[in-house]
This record gives sequence, C-alpha cells and structure tokens, in this order.
Amino acid sequence: MNTSIFIAPVPQSSGHPAKDLAHRDLLSIQDLLPEEVRALLDLTALIKARPADFRGALSGKQVVMFFEKPSLRTRLTFEAGLQSLGGQAIFVDQTRSRLDERESLSDIAHNLERWVDCVILRTFDHVTVTGMAEHASIPVINALSDLEHPCQALADFFTLEEKFDDIAKVTLAYVGDGNNVAHSLMLMTASLGAKIRIATPKGYEPLGEVVRAAKKIAASTGAIISVSNDPIAAVTDADAIYTDVWASMGQEQEAQQRAQIFEPFQVNEKLMAHAASHALFMHCLPAHRGDEVTDAVIDSPQSVVFDQAENRLHIQKAILLMLLGGGLRRFRPRSTNA
Ligand code: CP
Ligand code: NVA
Repeated sequence: MNTSIFIAPVPQSSGHPAKDLAHRDLLSIQDLLPEEVRALLDLTALIKARPADFRGALSGKQVVMFFEKPSLRTRLTFEAGLQSLGGQAIFVDQTRSRLDERESLSDIAHNLERWVDCVILRTFDHVTVTGMAEHASIPVINALSDLEHPCQALADFFTLEEKFDDIAKVTLAYVGDGNNVAHSLMLMTASLGAKIRIATPKGYEPLGEVVRAAKKIAASTGAIISVSNDPIAAVTDADAIYTDVWASMGQEQEAQQRAQIFEPFQVNEKLMAHAASHALFMHCLPAHRGDEVTDAVIDSPQSVVFDQAENRLHIQKAILLMLLGGGLRRFRPRSTNA
C-alpha cells in the first residue's frame, strides 16, 4: 500500500502523474487519473483499517447535499462518514423539484460557495452536476446522475480488491442495463487495467461516447472492455457477476416494458452456473428481487452486496478527505500492523 501521496502530496509542478486532489471535483471516474484512482483506493484501505486515526480530520468542514432522487446508502454513508471525520452535512430533499427550477444553477452555486466547503449532488441530468461544478468554486461530488455513479464504482472495485489478489486478472461481467452504474464500472475497469464484459439487450447498451472513453484509457492500462448482447458469453468463467435494476430512477414508467425485454438477462442460478465456481455476485442496491436477480443468488454465499454497501462509507470518507484537503500529514498510521 502506498500512502505517500496522502502524507506528502506530490506537487503538480514535479511532473509526477499523481496530482493533489484537493479542491477538485469528482463528477466522473474520468476526473481521476489511473494513479489517482489507485491512490484513493489505498487511502480507503487505510481509513477502513484505522478509522480512529482519521477522527477530526475534517473538523469544521460543512457539506451540503441536494438529492433530486431517493437514496438510502449514498445519503447515509456520506452523512455518517463526514460526521465520523468531524464534519457536518446539511441534507436538502430536492425530490419535489429540479435543483435549477426556482433559481439559476449559477446563482445557487455562487451562494453555496460563500457558505459551505463542498456540494454533493444526486440529479437526473448530468449537466446539473457539471453546471454546478462550472460555477461553484468549491468541490462538487456526483452522488449519482443519469450518466454516472462514480462513488459506487469506486466502492465496488475496492470490494473486488478485497476479494482478489490481483485486480488486473479479474474479469467482471455486468449483465443488464447499460446505465450510469455500468458507465462508471467500465471507466473504473479501464483505470485499473482489469477486464469487463458488458451484456445488455439490444438498444440498451452503454453510451458509445463512454465506451470510447473507457477504451482510450484501457489502451494505456491494458484493460479489456467488451460490450455484447449475450449474457451467457459475458458471464462464462467470469470472476464476478454484477447487475443493477432494469429501470433506473426516473424510468419507472418503462418498468413493465423493460421487464419483458430484460428477462433473458436475469441473474439466476442457471446464469451463475456459467461463471467461475469462485464467482462473486455484485449489485449496487436497491435490488428488485425477482427481476434482475433472484433471491437464491442475492442471498447466496457468493453475494457481496453488503460488503459493497459497507465500502461506500469507507470510499466516500477517502473522497471527502482528498477533495477537502483534510490535513492528512497528521494522519500517518501509528503502526501498520496494530
Ligand atoms: N447504491 C446506491 O447508490 O444506493 P442509494 O440509491 O440507496 O443511495
Ligand atoms: N441505476 C440505478 C442505480 C441506483 C443506485 C439508478 O440510477 O436508479
């Protein structure tokens, strides 16, 4: 584990690829260099192993969270995580109207930057997140938009690294909708030099621009990314099988139609039988049991869904620490084997 980046951040002028993340935004996995993804995962391991060492690291910091969509995990892990670092979160329920309906995004941004240290947004349109980041001088974190779910994918790959020795040798099969979660998983795979096979029904593939961006990163990391419409080919001998809801938040009116189209993509015991015998089952949750996954699979010993949910807490503490510059010099672990 390399903790040097956090204890003594490398100055940008040094030409080192690992830049200090303080005061940056996290809107997409693409906002992080592969070295920065690695650094974030390493810091997460440190925080998870020694949470007490980070108590008070963000003392006095205030974060505002505007959520246009419901949330259990993201909201609570950001709130609990920030509180455990000594900071404070202010939650705004934005589910009844879009953020920029009453006032322009730029005016909201110029208010927020006078009051708080960071903005966390869960939105429908990704441009709401990028617009806030463009106008606000404080860090903005994407807590899920229709395009990406970066905090989720970071936690998922942290989980995979806990289970497998060498992430570069791991093949992840994602079966279902080519949605925000699929996009962020694909970009994480690219950054870490892993392998992902995505299988969706025709017409529900991930966006071409995200596939191209992931493949561009993959060219320098050795990652392998494939997209098909064949769930069996995707899961055959895979190390982990991931699925997500067939109709994301905001697509509820399509749920019935999608249920028929996606039926061959259900992760059930028959599909899991094609994966490696050690294969894990992953889901970002909430799950629609009986649709994209059966009870037998999500409740099986292969399922790591609650490990993924737990790791949202640890990864988001690391994100907050890095973006809000939490005086990390003070937090060198007292001992690595205690
Ligand atoms: N996985 C996830 O983001 O869960 P919530 O929608 O409950 O935040
Ligand atoms: N794709 C899902 C993820 C929920 C965490 C959605 O956007 O609703």
